[in-house]
Amino acid sequence: MCGIVGYTGFREAYPILIEGLSMLEYRGYDSAGIAMINDQGLSVHKDKGKVDHLRSITNQICQGGPKIGIAHTRWATHGAPSLINSHPHCDQNNKIALVHNGIIENYARLKDKLIDDGIRFSSETDSEVLAQLIGIYYEDDLEMAVRRALLEVVGTFGIAVVAHDNPTEIIGARKGSPLVVGVGENEMLIASDASAIVRHTKKVIYLKDNNIIKLRPDQYSVTTLDNHKINAEIHNIEWDADSLAKGGFEHFMLKEIFEQPETIENAMRGRLLISEGTSRLDGLNLVLQELRGIQRIIFVACGTSWHAALVGEFMIEDIAGIPVEVEYASEFRYRNPIIDSHTLVFVISQSGETADTLAALREASHKGATVLGICNVVGSTIARETHGGVYLHAGPEIGVASTKAFTSQLTVLSLLTLLLGRMRRISHSDGVTIATALSKIPEKVRQILKQNDHIRSIAEIYAKHNNFLYLGRSYNFPVALEGALKLKEISYVHAEGYPAAEMKHGPIALIDKDMPSVILALKDAVYDKVISNIQEVNARGGSVIAIASEGDTNIQKYARHVIYIPETIAMLSPLLAVIPLQLLAYHIAAIRGCEIDQPRNLAKSVTVE
Ligand code: M6R
Repeated sequence: MCGIVGYTGFREAYPILIEGLSMLEYRGYDSAGIAMINDQGLSVHKDKGKVDHLRSITNQICQGGPKIGIAHTRWATHGAPSLINSHPHCDQNNKIALVHNGIIENYARLKDKLIDDGIRFSSETDSEVLAQLIGIYYEDDLEMAVRRALLEVVGTFGIAVVAHDNPTEIIGARKGSPLVVGVGENEMLIASDASAIVRHTKKVIYLKDNNIIKLRPDQYSVTTLDNHKINAEIHNIEWDADSLAKGGFEHFMLKEIFEQPETIENAMRGRLLISEGTSRLDGLNLVLQELRGIQRIIFVACGTSWHAALVGEFMIEDIAGIPVEVEYASEFRYRNPIIDSHTLVFVISQSGETADTLAALREASHKGATVLGICNVVGSTIARETHGGVYLHAGPEIGVASTKAFTSQLTVLSLLTLLLGRMRRISHSDGVTIATALSKIPEKVRQILKQNDHIRSIAEIYAKHNNFLYLGRSYNFPVALEGALKLKEISYVHAEGYPAAEMKHGPIALIDKDMPSVILALKDAVYDKVISNIQEVNARGGSVIAIASEGDTNIQKYARHVIYIPETIAMLSPLLAVIPLQLLAYHIAAIRGCEIDQPRNLAKSVTVE
């Protein structure tokens, strides 16, 4: 989950690398480092801490120098965050420097053998094994040395490597960890994702697994690990560097919460057919007859994407009458799932790079399933390996806590429900009702966002509490899970999400005056039941923050605080109900002084198992 960036060209490398690292810091931020080639050979600077710290210790010494370099921001897997474990890693003779994202699974065995052969290691990392191997093989052909070393390792890697005596060449390679190459005019960049590149060029190559790329300022060549030439396709990045800025908001998370009226609109643009009461999802690459034949759907995802999948299950079973199962990707990949020819598998992932989801995708493909994707990042590995799918078009999501991607996923799942529902169960007029309600969601989200100050005032009251319960039923049970996840991720407050009625089977024991409950109590089929649950909390001295439907004055009798949201049809209510929970989590974390966009121990894109 680390971030990698490299540059070779006619400009000074240092500012490009440091700026690139800042863009990638969401991938990991416990240490950072940079390697450049100057007249004396490799010049490596690294330390524990964030990119700003690296900048402060290198600013004076690195300016005005080399036109080639590689850099790294780390999310520790093997070895604690420390100076010695930071990347870049060099071989013992300082011939080459390497930055690595991924895990070398057979590193312990390789390391023992290298130590027996007299190699001195200076870190506890798996990555250094690769650096030492490349150093052993390097004489004057860096690409060949990298290729030989990679043939010995088992595991995943996205790497960039430079050699002390070659001030123009970078070698990159990938297997299981993303790498994208920026093709400029007399300059080339390489990075873990396009956000580190887009300011310099919009022309990119997405490397595939087992590809090696040799970069020089004015040329590149791509080969496979076993040395077959590849004609790599150049893609155009369709979003602007501006979308990577905070745009006046204090944090990316807040900016992304406030972007949701537009991102939801973008997810349905050109796809929602209101007058026909259906949707059009061309990317699925399935003809309508194939979709009609589906008898079961499996959604596979992790984290927030898994919560979106749960809402999708409710929607599709309710409206389209197709049985749906929702699987944690990390479990699915090691089970022996039953997938027959009438089962459609969807993998859902914002980043499109989540290792568990990718492995689940591959497992389903091996079983012969048609696997479709619901992804945000265009050109991501999941997007490329699925047989078809739907992009979210939410733009880059930088905050580690996923917000706008979640509502975009729900929007796409609503469109899918509409499409499948119209083929099977629902009439034209029911389809028009759902489609019309969906088209009104962005404006309703705007209305909820206007309550930001009210939500912050509730956050002020509860910011010091250390335990929260989130309860919801039916469509809003997954929203309770998502609200709790948001709070724990960014504020480090313990929060549990539960189906409201399940509370009495255990968690009710936790309730006292110090444990507030956030309860989704919308005017829907389970409203009365949820009111009973609220009373159960009240009876035990707990205080209730209710998310309620506009106009429901009755709820004020039961809940200490109420956040109202506009009414919509039940299946779309999660799109609205989650917004106050995102804001509540954000404000509690801000009041507690937490690092909202880069919470401890987390990374945006979880590319390790
Ligand atoms: O990129 P993905 O959607 O595959 O990521 C899945 C989870 O890692 C992700 O949703 C994670 O739970 C977020 N930090 C939630 O805010």
